[in-house]
Amino acid sequence: MIWLHLIWFAILSIGNAEVLVTTVNRIHAWKIREPRLRHVRHLHDLLIPLWPSWLFVVIGFISPGVLFTEISPSEVWQRLPFFVQGWMAICMAGFIGFSWAVIRYWTHRPPPQQIEFSSTIVDFEAELDSRPVGVGPYASLLDFPVNDCFRVEFTERTFQFDRLPKAWDGLSILHLTDLHFTGAIDLPFFEAVFARAAQWDYDIAVITGDVLDSEELLDWLPKTLGKLNGPLGNYFILGNHDWGLDSDRIRQAICDLGWRSVAGTLQTLDIAGKRVAIGGSERPWMGLHQTFDAVPDEFFRLLLSHTPDNLSWARRQRVDLMLAGHNHGGQVILPGIGPVYSPSVHGCRYSSGVFKSDPTLLLVGRGLSGKHPLRIGATPEVCRVVLRSS
Ligand SMILES: [Fe+2]
Repeated sequence: MIWLHLIWFAILSIGNAEVLVTTVNRIHAWKIREPRLRHVRHLHDLLIPLWPSWLFVVIGFISPGVLFTEISPSEVWQRLPFFVQGWMAICMAGFIGFSWAVIRYWTHRPPPQQIEFSSTIVDFEAELDSRPVGVGPYASLLDFPVNDCFRVEFTERTFQFDRLPKAWDGLSILHLTDLHFTGAIDLPFFEAVFARAAQWDYDIAVITGDVLDSEELLDWLPKTLGKLNGPLGNYFILGNHDWGLDSDRIRQAICDLGWRSVAGTLQTLDIAGKRVAIGGSERPWMGLHQTFDAVPDEFFRLLLSHTPDNLSWARRQRVDLMLAGHNHGGQVILPGIGPVYSPSVHGCRYSSGVFKSDPTLLLVGRGLSGKHPLRIGATPEVCRVVLRSS
């Protein structure tokens, strides 16, 4: 009977953690300033261990002391106050949600529109003369023994589209996201990553937000973004971390390097007589959605969105390809469980990878860095996307 109670405690503790993590993930998807988000995180940090401790000490040892007396779980349930029964029911729902999220993560496969995939991991810590550790309150996280922050995966994905004009077969897009220049990871790392990315063949370069966490590092931009030069243009949007700074100043600094901001706008490109409409969304943090209503049907529709949470809007706009970031692949992948933290209204569902939700194909990049430079199993990523017509 004691084992039954311990299993019951474990289920309720996991469910409690899931409910709190789910709440934190959703709140971080909204337009809320960082100081308030910090309060929410502190509350979450307190409540996650508090509930299992209470279960173990009070129900296990004090009243009714299930770890010492022969009592069934149903008898325990009847003795509990109504509000504790209510929280236990919520924890049970949380445990079911957790189990579903784990199954969904491990069974997810890229949609058939991804016809080729290859990748190379480059360990920049080994490639550079010295370890690119900078300064700042979180730089010490880089000393964590299994931290993958310097191991960058260069992925190549080929997507097939029925609507892609034949003339564009083979068009390639270099996708970077979530650079997070904080100073914790030093400039030589980013210079080396961009230098390698610049060697790739690509027609268009795009960045989907979260470029800077410190305006003091604006002078890093020419040494990184300034090294990319897509023959058909460089396009970008900003993210929620840029929103926390002087976003107008950051946007102007990137535009001064020849990049074009597509935030809240639609731009058209003419390639071999066929046209593509490129839109950008920094919602919910900045600007407005620019609808594709005026775009003729034959235009291929490409959307840069910082968060994948704009997927349902993109579907309504009949976007063909949506490139996003924001979730960093969860940053830490727990063995057997998967990612846990992902600042999205969908939790970890779109933490990274390729998803098809008709008519939109969504690619969520893991990004290059993060405010907290700790990655385990979610290596930084740079992606080259090749478009093929069916
Ligand atoms: Fe980010």
